[in-house]
Amino acid sequence: MRLVVDSDGGIDDAAAIVWLCGRPDVEIAAVTAVGGNVEVRQAARNLRIILEAAGRPDVPVHIGSDPTDPAPHIPRPTFIHGEDGLGDVGLPDPRRGADADTPAVEVLVREMRRGASVLTLGPMTNLAAAVRADAGAARSSRLTLMGGSARAEGNARPSAEANVANDPLAAATSLAAEWATPPVMVGLNVTHRATLRETEFDSLARRQTAAAAFLYGPLSFYRRNAGTLCAEGETPCHDLLAAMAAVRPDVLGVEVLPVEVDTGGSAAWGQTVVDLRQLAWRRFSPPPRPTPAGSGPDGNAGGTGAAVAVG
Ligand code: BDR
Ligand code: CA
Repeated sequence: MRLVVDSDGGIDDAAAIVWLCGRPDVEIAAVTAVGGNVEVRQAARNLRIILEAAGRPDVPVHIGSDPTDPAPHIPRPTFIHGEDGLGDVGLPDPRRGADADTPAVEVLVREMRRGASVLTLGPMTNLAAAVRADAGAARSSRLTLMGGSARAEGNARPSAEANVANDPLAAATSLAAEWATPPVMVGLNVTHRATLRETEFDSLARRQTAAAAFLYGPLSFYRRNAGTLCAEGETPCHDLLAAMAAVRPDVLGVEVLPVEVDTGGSAAWGQTVVDLRQLAWRRFSPPPRPTPAGSGPDGNAGGTGAAVAVG
């Protein structure tokens, strides 16, 4: 598959990109940088470092934007990704700079038009701008996103996941676009359960590859605080799971369900509201309630249909 990866250059982003670079069935057309874990230019720098460590210095990195939605201020997660976004382990500068000539949005539109799939691992600011610039481009493309949750749980806010919480409007715009197939939403409800444990860290330490040696330092930093919302001894690697789901859809069970993003400034600002009741109602024929488009007075969720990872 041909893929554009849009990323905010953090440590689980690094694990995801290294994994993708090792897949013979994935052609990474480009990587686009968005602000999130770090400011967008630092994200672009990190993405160049990651691609070089993964043996793919030829993949271009294009610079996008920092989140544009005036969302509630989300502090930078330096306790998870470090000040530099890659665990402050003193990584040297990349040999090449990012491509400053072609902006991320232009690359996203071009690649979507060509039929490439999109994987977002950060706030969806660049993608929403691409969808606004060319509403028809999504029709030839497929989207997998790390973001949100099928349930009301959060890491950046009480019920909002960081990538969506940083730019709720961008997430809403991107999910509402007309994709070739329903966008696949890999949220905290699954990333907090499919975690890295002692065994995975031990095996990473034993691996003799340059990519494993590169990942070990940043992931050891990440491990200290990233798992505070998981079971003891477990570390989520959100973006890695989303990358796996983009390439191997069978790794997760998905259900097409209505999803609405709270963009309104309530306590649930940035929450992805998923109508899980539909799962129960599907057992009945006909189902007790229809699923109308848009929020209605009948108690049904509005929003667009997404393939939500549920297990
Ligand atoms: C997501 O937020 C970022 O901090 C991580 O890189 C991941 O994409 C997890 O909520
Ligand atoms: Ca990320």
